[in-house]
Amino acid sequence: MTNERVRVLFVCLGNICRSPSAQGVFQELLRKEGWDQRVEVDSAGTTAYHAGQAPDPRAQEAAAARGIDLSAQRARRVTSEDFSRFDYVLAMDSENLHDLQEMHTGEGQCHLGLFLEFSEGQGMDVPDPYYGGGQGFEVVLDILEEGGQAFFRHLVTRHD
Ligand code: 4NP
Repeated sequence: MTNERVRVLFVCLGNICRSPSAQGVFQELLRKEGWDQRVEVDSAGTTAYHAGQAPDPRAQEAAAARGIDLSAQRARRVTSEDFSRFDYVLAMDSENLHDLQEMHTGEGQCHLGLFLEFSEGQGMDVPDPYYGGGQGFEVVLDILEEGGQAFFRHLVTRHD
């Protein structure tokens, strides 16, 4: 095992629903697997619509019911430095990925792709729960837990 920390950034549109949930879910998975010192996790949005805000209360509530605390997170917009600072920049959906590709000027050697590209048999997009009801947040958490497992298996293969 190398001592290099792997840096991972999850990205959605507003950074108040999907990507902070992905951060919380994946940090919990890493902790359980004993990998929390090996991998640094952050999240950001392609927009600054909600910059400085805590995650959506519905996202916080759904995560808390699974023992995951999102309350300390604050939304921020992706910056150009993120493409150099992080090894993986993973978008929640293909629209987010398209926006990231437009922002990425070519500097930085990160892996820029979709969060679900490591998962087999899933759709490639984590659906946006913002305008829907509370059940959407449960669906998102289910997808993030499964997708996180698949991404973790990839990290173990590549970085162990
Ligand atoms: P997120 O969800 O991208 O998963 O954080 C959204 C949050 C805010 C908006 C849309 C989606 N919005 O239009 O403000």
